[in-house]
This record gives sequence, structure tokens and C-alpha cells, in this order.
Amino acid sequence: MRILMISLTLLLLSACLGEQTDHSATPIKIKFAHVVAESTPKGIGAKLFQQRVEKRLAGKVVVEVYPNSQLYDDNKVMEALLLGDVQLAAPSLAKFGKYTKKLQVFDLPFLFDNLEAVNRFQTGPMGQKLLSSMTQSGYLGLAYWHNGMKQLSANQPLRVPANAKGLKFRIQQSHVLQAQFEMLGASPQKLAFAEVYNALQTGVVDGQENTWSNIESKKFYEVQAHFSQSNHGVLDYLVVTNAAFWKRLPDDIRTELEQILAEVGLEVNRLAQELAMVSRQSVMDFAQETGKTEVLTLSQAELAQWRKAMQPVWKQFESEIGQEVIEAAIAANE
Ligand code: SIN
Repeated sequence: MRILMISLTLLLLSACLGEQTDHSATPIKIKFAHVVAESTPKGIGAKLFQQRVEKRLAGKVVVEVYPNSQLYDDNKVMEALLLGDVQLAAPSLAKFGKYTKKLQVFDLPFLFDNLEAVNRFQTGPMGQKLLSSMTQSGYLGLAYWHNGMKQLSANQPLRVPANAKGLKFRIQQSHVLQAQFEMLGASPQKLAFAEVYNALQTGVVDGQENTWSNIESKKFYEVQAHFSQSNHGVLDYLVVTNAAFWKRLPDDIRTELEQILAEVGLEVNRLAQELAMVSRQSVMDFAQETGKTEVLTLSQAELAQWRKAMQPVWKQFESEIGQEVIEAAIAANE
């Protein structure tokens, strides 16, 4: 028995030593898991990142991309990052409430006038500071990527806030979004992105909010009869990693990966607006061809009603998010 134990220990030791010796020759593997289609801004960004790493860090780093919730939903992916099962993810900014309250700023309804304002905030000093707002939980934000502004939909027309009263809306994991729908007298239900289509189809929920590219790529228009162009909030991403993993990377490799992420971020952000318009047009074409759904344009007066109904959420979350963070976001509208 004793001899067996000693041999086993020796075997383990040699395996560990072997691993160490070979380490420099083994490429670092980066698994990048996300929940959306490959045709969306995040899907394209993840692929672009993979291709550029393949070209510029050949033999040193290998990136594997897992789209469409193939590996994890956005909650599980955060745990997987800490466990080292994946190394990169890019959940929507609405999904970090468990780790920092500050990023909730992005969920405040009608805070940003448009994606340009979001961009100014993200690239400004406050946006950059927020990248490190989760280091105490072991996460590091590496970059923001745009998707776009959110639109409302339901199985009945949503022209004014009163139309949402009593309806069940699917929301992301966010207390702010929960409060936003509660302000309307609606009933918010937190569901993973992969479950939304079925939930809409089977009537588990009556409505949802999302961007044109997510609506189009996941075919929500097949199971929602009325879309409203509300642009009432933003859905963007934080490319996030395990802070300890990132720190352990050799300096030259980390620098190159950060450079690639920055370049890809510019591409994604440039593409996002275009993709939103293309996706919106596809939904409109489907509406026109089939008559199964409609896309409503809201008047300024109707939009003002939605803003008035949702905006009290700002005050409710001001102390958690921080007044200075909200003020910096407001200032980005100018
Ligand atoms: C995503 O765009 O990553 C999904 C957002 C959602 O859960 O609605």
C-alpha cells in the first residue's frame, strides 16, 4: 500500500512538473461564452476577437467562442469565470447587480439620449473608472461593447404607459428594470435570454424589452404582435474576465489582447448602429409581408408620457448608484 502511495505521489509530481515545463509551449486557451446569435454586435465582436488573436498571437493564445447560450446563461457564466471554466464573457450591463451597484446606471430609463451619449459616458473618466468596480468580487471589466437602444413589445399595442398596466414583461436580472416595470403597474419576470422566445410564445409573459438586433435574430417578432419604437434605455455589454487570470498573463500577451479588444470594440461600436437599423427594417418587412405584427412609431407626446412614468426610478436608485455617476451620465448627453 505504502509503495503504491509513493508511486502515485511520484506520478502526480512528475505530471505537474511536466505541465510546468511544457507551459511555455502550450497556447493559453481563452473560452469566450455568450448568449446571443453570431450575427449580432456581440456575436460579431467575439468572432473578430478570435480571428485577430489567431493572426497576431498564433501559437501563444487560442480563443474558442461559444455563442447562443451553448455553454452558460449570463448568471452561470459569471460563476464559470471565477472557476476558470471560461476566461471571457460579455453579459449585458444589466446583469452585474450582484457584484456592483454602480453599473445599474446603464439601466436607468431615458437616461441616455442615444448611443453616442452612451459612448461619451463609457469612454469618459467615470465610464473608465466603472470598469474596475467589481475587482473586490474577482472580476475585471475590459471593454464596453454596444448593442443598442431597447424597444418595447407586447401582445397588445403599447402607445402610452397605461397600456402596459397589468401585463407581464420579461426582464433581465436587474432590480432597476424590475422597478421600471413596477412603476407602470406591470409585472416583471426575470428570465434568461434563452428562455424568452418560449415564454412569449406560451404566454408565460405578455411582453419584453430588447434591442432590434436581439429581437430580429431571436425572431421575437414571430411571437409579439406589437412593437413600439421607444428607445427608452440602453442594452450594452461589459467584456469581463477573471481579474486574477488576467493579471497572471505574461505582460506582452496581456498588452496585445487589450490592444485587440480595443480595436474590436471600435468595430463593434461602429457596426452596432448599422445592425440595429438593418434588424429594424427586417422586422418592419416581416410586419408588412405577413401582417402578423406591427411596429409603432411613438409621437413626442407619447414618449414624454413614458419618460414621466419611468423616470422616478432614477431617484429610487440614486443612493445605490451614486449621484456623481448619474450626473456624469446626464452630462454625456450634451
Ligand atoms: C444579450 O444581448 O446578451 C442578452 C440580453 C438579454 O438577456 O435580454
